[in-house]
Amino acid sequence: LSPQDFKGKKILITAGPTVEPIDPVRNITNKSSGKMGYEIAKEFALRGAEVILISGPTNLKPSPLIKEIINITTAEEMLEAAKDKYENMNIIIMTAAVSDFKVKNASKQKIKKDKDSITLELIKNPDILKTIGKIKKENQLLVGFAAETNNLIEYAKKKLKEKNCDLIIANDVSKAETGFNVDYNEVYILNKLGDVTHVEKNTKKNIAINIADYISKLINS
Ligand code: C5P
Repeated sequence: LSPQDFKGKKILITAGPTVEPIDPVRNITNKSSGKMGYEIAKEFALRGAEVILISGPTNLKPSPLIKEIINITTAEEMLEAAKDKYENMNIIIMTAAVSDFKVKNASKQKIKKDKDSITLELIKNPDILKTIGKIKKENQLLVGFAAETNNLIEYAKKKLKEKNCDLIIANDVSKAETGFNVDYNEVYILNKLGDVTHVEKNTKKNIAINIADYISKLINS
């Protein structure tokens, strides 16, 4: 049986990709499977937390222990759901791979292939983590993820500051065996004091256990 060290805690988790329409039958998205976020949601729920999961489209079955699941498609929808729910939360963990850009004026009708080339104009999506970082309360723990292909720790430290997070969990997505759309990961947990804790390559389930252990120590110390 899991320890019940998160009993009475409310935890909001974002997971999966967001999907941005080009037209009614075409999308822009990314390679996120949602696995890391779903494992984290499950682990906290097993340990007694009330978990709300805001998820982009995935092929995963969420743990039945998760209290509420909000399925969204676009970054705008994820932001609205996060703003709607964050206030009563003790811990907010944003694992979602939010699409950085969306199509400006997505077409209401299917785009025809009668031209040899077309141009899509992309505009910036809102940064959900940064938005919550600005409005979060002093006693809420905000955790972000940083997926990078180079200068991992340096970029993660920058993100921690810029997005006003308490923790950043950094992973190197340039390696084929860890990162996006696989069952394994290897992460570094960075805190505001500048400490960097390495969690060696392991299943996403065991990485989730390590992250929960780290957060448990942090909030109970
Ligand atoms: O800036 P970058 O996308 O690398 O930051 C990653 C972190 O920010 C993740 O925690 C991700 O969930 C969050 N994020 C977000 N909204 C965005 C982009 C990233 O919440 N538009």
